[in-house]
Amino acid sequence: MNIIGTGRAHPSLTVTNEMLSRFLDTSDEWITTRTGIKQRQLISHEKLEDLAAEACNNALEDAGISAKDIDFFICSNVVNEYITPSLSCIVQGMIGATCACFDLNSACAGFIYALDIANSFFKTKKEVNHILILCAEEPTRMCDWQERSTCVLFGDGAAAVVLSRGDDFIGSSLSSFSCVEPLYQIRELEKTPFITKEEFGGPLVMKGQEVFKLAVKSSLSDIRKVVEDNGYTYDEVDYYLLHQANIRIIDTIRRSLDQDEVKFPHNIRHYGNTSSASLPILLDELNRNQTLNSGDTIVLSAFGAGFTSGACLLNWSKQ
Ligand code: COA
Repeated sequence: MNIIGTGRAHPSLTVTNEMLSRFLDTSDEWITTRTGIKQRQLISHEKLEDLAAEACNNALEDAGISAKDIDFFICSNVVNEYITPSLSCIVQGMIGATCACFDLNSACAGFIYALDIANSFFKTKKEVNHILILCAEEPTRMCDWQERSTCVLFGDGAAAVVLSRGDDFIGSSLSSFSCVEPLYQIRELEKTPFITKEEFGGPLVMKGQEVFKLAVKSSLSDIRKVVEDNGYTYDEVDYYLLHQANIRIIDTIRRSLDQDEVKFPHNIRHYGNTSSASLPILLDELNRNQTLNSGDTIVLSAFGAGFTSGACLLNWSKQ
């Protein structure tokens, strides 16, 4: 499986740390030093599905194929305005694709899970030649905007990749374990005349320090497994693209692997944590600004609520 096209779309509104400090007890200094975030792009008038379709169209254009050439479409998403139908079904119609599609929710690790599933589809379905993966997320709609410890972390966005048959995908390591308490959001469902239990909903709840530790532990374990099991050394990897949640998480992982900073490109400064869209947004930036060279070896790694995490190792052969 090879990546042959990437694309992304951001909401138009830029919200700086200074703008947040006008209505929250926070500061640019605190957010920058504790997270590495300076600003984020936030949904205001846009619909997530419009950003999603734009990201897909950009990826298709980069790949040089049309939506009709896509044989399978996977969308990673945690939350959007529709409970049903799936976001993939909505976007499929907007871009003019006709293939089967579905949504997956592996929280912020969704891109890695989608890549792994796509790789299996290529192996088991002879008729599948092109797969489109979309990660479209609006985590800012999950937060309490009076809660300074969570809302400052997130941004919205969408990114997509087009995949074709090939040998670039070397391997992956996925891990999930049920650990709800450090990071969850409960949604209140419609009442029926028969519901007797107490139910409630609310914004995202996060125990920041616990999530920080779980993220470092899980990501390091996934990265070590995928690199070592496939017979590579850490020095042989050209780039480590990590989920953009906190620059200190990225740096802790980098130091544990004893690797140079230049191997860990990041854009959290501009976008904050865009959930599963964070990795394909970064990948698209590095593709378009020609940081990545054909022949590079890349590790992708992400973690999220669940707790879910995953890493994969691949070659970059796109010119
Ligand atoms: N501005 C100013 N002060 C803030 C703040 C903000 N936005 N958010 C929290 N604080 C305060 C806290 O209230 C606390 O004050 P206190 O000492 O008076 O109680 C102090 O800063 C330290 O809080 P703490 O939670 O210990 O900070 P931290 O260094 O752990 O950083 C996070 C907090 C959330 C940035 C960090 O834990 C983190 O990034 N965790 C991982 C989160 C994540 O990745 N989530 C998504 C997973 S996909």
